[in-house]
Amino acid sequence: LPAIGITALGVYAPENVVTNADFEQHLDTSDEWIFSRTGIRERRFAAENEYTSHMGVRAVQDLVRRFPHALEGVDAVVCATGSPDALFPSTAALIAGQVGLRGAAAFDVSAACSGFVYACSVAQGLVAGGSARKVLLVGAETMSKIVDQTDRGTAILFGDGGGAMIIEAVPSGYGFESFVLGADSAGAESLYVRCVAHQLPSGAAMQPYLAMNGREVFKFAVRVMGESGHAAMQKAGLSVKDVDWLIPHQANIRIIESACQRFGLSLDKTVVNLDRYGNTSAATIPLALAEAYDDGRIQDGQQLLMIAFGGGLSWGATTLKW
Ligand code: ACO
Repeated sequence: LPAIGITALGVYAPENVVTNADFEQHLDTSDEWIFSRTGIRERRFAAENEYTSHMGVRAVQDLVRRFPHALEGVDAVVCATGSPDALFPSTAALIAGQVGLRGAAAFDVSAACSGFVYACSVAQGLVAGGSARKVLLVGAETMSKIVDQTDRGTAILFGDGGGAMIIEAVPSGYGFESFVLGADSAGAESLYVRCVAHQLPSGAAMQPYLAMNGREVFKFAVRVMGESGHAAMQKAGLSVKDVDWLIPHQANIRIIESACQRFGLSLDKTVVNLDRYGNTSAATIPLALAEAYDDGRIQDGQQLLMIAFGGGLSWGATTLKW
């Protein structure tokens, strides 16, 4: 691949912390159940009047605080989200308008929790193909708005947040090296949010809430993390021993542990922060990446592997020289 990579990043998580104990107040669940099955201790929920574009805008504002000139020359905005403000306009267009990028191309990528990795590939392709010179890539979600908060099977898993990155040409030897993307609608019924009325059984009320078969998704996730991660490494001519950091989609610590076991990769080389944010879908990888960058774990020239999976069912893996 041509040398195209990430040159700036920023993140946002809403202030409102929702702990497992908070769910005990209104659901038949317990901190012990949630933590032992998922590894999650708490997550952040957006305020009632805050939507996905707000998560994205705040992440972009954080990016500008860290890298003051980063938005200069941005000619495309891509937002990965499964919980957009509206079917249209795109959340990307709403974000662009609020961060001083009116006029830039703007569209969303819909690949659920795989969205961030898919959108990295789209952004890389826009730059490689000459359609854009500099892409603002956002992964943002307000999962709390599309999850039924009375369903203990899903309410406890998800959180809200956003991440923003600049994708552009980088010196040779750096940047994205490979992408492996896929989807298989055979598992579509295992994870979905319906919002088009004609898909509903006749007489059913439209309820745009996330529905999930947890066990099916779990088995799928462990399998595709292994397969797509290996395929991405192979495509880039890498093996597991070359990987400095695995940054996996943060859905469940047991899924990550199983994937690490399959790779023969130590959990010490894996970035995990789902204990504090839960599953923020397309925002998990940016939130984890930024945390490991901020605390100095991720350093210049290191080999990263990012893997995600989600609704579709879909998957995506990429290797990146940081
Ligand atoms: N508290 C207490 N009990 C619960 C809760 C809860 N919050 N949720 C479910 N239970 C009960 C169930 O009702 C079930 O009871 P039953 O046996 O009497 O029917 C029992 O606990 C066991 O449920 P399982 O679903 O078998 O539990 P499992 O060990 O599979 O864990 C979990 C469930 C955590 C959801 C797990 O399957 C999982 O993490 N799956 C992957 C989900 C995922 O990653 N989804 C996101 C994909 S990314 C995207 O695109 C959005």
